[in-house]
Amino acid sequence: MSARSDFLALDARSSDLAERYRAVREASRALGSHLSDADATVQSMPDASPAKWHLAHTTWFFETMILKERVPGYRVFDESYNFLFNSYYETVGERQPRARRGMVTRPSLEEVFAYRAHVDEAMDRLLSEGPDAEVAELVGLGCQHEQQHQELLLTDILHLFSQNPLKPAFKDPGPVAVEGGEPEPANFVSFEGGIVEIGHDGEGFAFDCEGPRHRTLIEPYRLSDRLVTNGEWIAFIEDGGYRDPLLWLSAGWADVKENGWSMPFYWEKRGGDYWTMTLRGFQPVDRSAPVTHLSYFEADAFAAWAGKRLPSEAEWENAAAGVPMEGNFADTGRLRPKPAGGREEGTGLRQMFGDCWEWTRSAFLPYPGFKAAPGAVGEYNGKFMCGQFVLRGGSCATPPGHIRRTYRNFFPPEARWQFTGLRLAEDG
Ligand SMILES: [Fe+2]
Repeated sequence: MSARSDFLALDARSSDLAERYRAVREASRALGSHLSDADATVQSMPDASPAKWHLAHTTWFFETMILKERVPGYRVFDESYNFLFNSYYETVGERQPRARRGMVTRPSLEEVFAYRAHVDEAMDRLLSEGPDAEVAELVGLGCQHEQQHQELLLTDILHLFSQNPLKPAFKDPGPVAVEGGEPEPANFVSFEGGIVEIGHDGEGFAFDCEGPRHRTLIEPYRLSDRLVTNGEWIAFIEDGGYRDPLLWLSAGWADVKENGWSMPFYWEKRGGDYWTMTLRGFQPVDRSAPVTHLSYFEADAFAAWAGKRLPSEAEWENAAAGVPMEGNFADTGRLRPKPAGGREEGTGLRQMFGDCWEWTRSAFLPYPGFKAAPGAVGEYNGKFMCGQFVLRGGSCATPPGHIRRTYRNFFPPEARWQFTGLRLAEDG
């Protein structure tokens, strides 16, 4: 861990760190406050975890990685929680199987909130004493980890509520205005490429998989100045995009046939109109807003249909270099992707941050020189570098301040329940 302590210049000041800790923990509590004990307990599919599990697991992370290891006399809240709320850390012991997290009807949501309060009290004490650099680094990691779970809590709740015939809203039910017809056609911005540097440079926090910064060769390319819209996706559907095997990767076409995919996840056709489940309930599809809840396979097939391709992660990051990290994140409260605004000065790229995670054609692999840290923390990302694709830019469910230009999210190519969309690219 010591090699990465310089990532945490800001966190080294304990007052900043204590404040950040409190803010992140409060944000999770606020998300949980919208839910009943039943909402927070049911697991709607093996990939999705109950909200209660997210709230407890993030707490377990602080208890296990910091309090148990480094605070003499810390009283473990409940010894059984290590089994219940360990996610995938082999180093830390046996655990409840992921697909059976919904069986944990006890502890209740209320007890999980009591667990959170117990850990917060001990963490507050530790942070007020001025933690050393190693603890500060772990607290920073724990906060970023919890923010990742805040997004997962939202996407998992959306999946759960989509299974409920009443189609409940996570918050603010009622129709959201459809903001307009088709946006103007996308504009493609040219980039020269060449030998460029990508990856995190070690200033401030980053997950281990974002570094080391390294050189890579990019051929000249062009990148769309906005995300693909629902209106464009409807054109793909109505042109038979889901019925033409020539547009699809073989594994993707197998999924289309096996699962009967004919439109994005959560979409339904009602009386000739397209509707979709959202965190604000069942809503009409807004043609001008970015399309979301797509697998990699669907994004790739759409790009083939459009005569384009998906960008590589290096192309995306190179293009993002001058773009402010602003956008429609979870704090806007919209919790849905938003139509692109007018064309911007500067690079001209819109919606690079927020709205939807953008599928890239890059497999999630270690960068040159990557080494997983020793111990449990080394299990964080490195062991998932097989069979997944990188997504960039964050979404409308990503907490503000959580994203970076170097941020590498990753999911298997068939995953559809995250806020995943696409931006087209082509050779320059
Ligand atoms: Fe986790």
